[in-house]
Amino acid sequence: MSPTLDTPCAVIDVARMQRNIQRMQQRATQLGVRLRPHVKTSKCPQVVEAQLTAGAQGITVSTLKEAQLFFAQGVTDILYAVAMAPTKLDQALALRRAGCALVIVTDSVAGAKAIVEFGQRHGERFEVMIEIDSDHHRSGVRSDDPLLLEVARALHEGGALLKGVMTHAGESYKLDTPEALQRIAELERSECVKAAQAIRAAGLPCVEVSVGSTPTALSAAHLAGVTELRAGVYVFFDLVMHNVGVCGLDELALSVLTTVIGHQPEKGWVITDAGWMAMSRDRGTQAQKCDYGYGLVCDVDGVPIDGLLLRSANQEHGVASFEPGQVVDVVQQFPLGTRLRILPNHACATGAQYPAYVALQSGGEVAQWPRENGW
Ligand SMILES: Cc1ncc(COP(=O)(O)O)c(C=O)c1O
Repeated sequence: MSPTLDTPCAVIDVARMQRNIQRMQQRATQLGVRLRPHVKTSKCPQVVEAQLTAGAQGITVSTLKEAQLFFAQGVTDILYAVAMAPTKLDQALALRRAGCALVIVTDSVAGAKAIVEFGQRHGERFEVMIEIDSDHHRSGVRSDDPLLLEVARALHEGGALLKGVMTHAGESYKLDTPEALQRIAELERSECVKAAQAIRAAGLPCVEVSVGSTPTALSAAHLAGVTELRAGVYVFFDLVMHNVGVCGLDELALSVLTTVIGHQPEKGWVITDAGWMAMSRDRGTQAQKCDYGYGLVCDVDGVPIDGLLLRSANQEHGVASFEPGQVVDVVQQFPLGTRLRILPNHACATGAQYPAYVALQSGGEVAQWPRENGW
């Protein structure tokens, strides 16, 4: 890798990323559903372009700023998969008026009423999906809650276009066996399909049934009744996903390039210029079967160094060390100026620390790929 690259920087291994994109696209095809990737992981035009080129149909976003960015890039089919705040309806309206087929989400009667009232005032029929709580993880309406039909009716009767239901089984991140993952994937599917059936049985429209997280997408035995899959972090994968058991370490496409800036030889510490600003504060592997600290340290070519973890981090300092008992002459093995790469716990959080990525091609060429941040 170019010795002139300023560190710390976020490096995308483009060949790995392309393999990850192919893997999920093939998975969606196998399951007979469309793939609408969640682009909050990369927030990067080049990455999203690669996903669309591979066959993705539409995208999912986590902010309206992402929607604006990708719409300007020519993507018109966008699902904003966070419950709509009434104060953001004017931004949603502006996107739709400009020609973006933006779909928004709600899970409450108050949310539905805010959407229809704003729509009536501005002569706009918003397309809306109802969020379903399939696994008690976060937001959404339960499939058997009478509230589901109240929300559906408030939307439909208020003049909005009730597009369908969506859910995200975030509890899957806590699991790590194929059996448990397959069970939660089935729960995600069956709960969302049940909600769609209840809406249809009440004589209301519900065309789309949208599910997905990376663990459930890669574990579902089938997706009968589902129309689309939303997976996001698969594009880079990360140590959390590795602990869940859905990717190998050699599939992690995002790493942080860092420089050794010092040592504490008697403690076996290697000090890096990647602290928590470079890695993020995310300690997602702490509660999992293998705690990787702030990241797994690799050599400059991305090959993991056995036992070397970024065990603590200050804002601009990282402290890497081996397992207790592993005796290594860290000054000799990692002299000042040595370049290392660190695999992150959570790719979405680490990426968010940077205004751009360094895209590394297999031939060693590098390019700057911009990244959106903020709201
Ligand atoms: C609503 C929603 N859909 C899809 C996803 C994608 O999940 P993953 O990154 O596990 O693929 C997320 C991730 O947080 C999400 O919040």
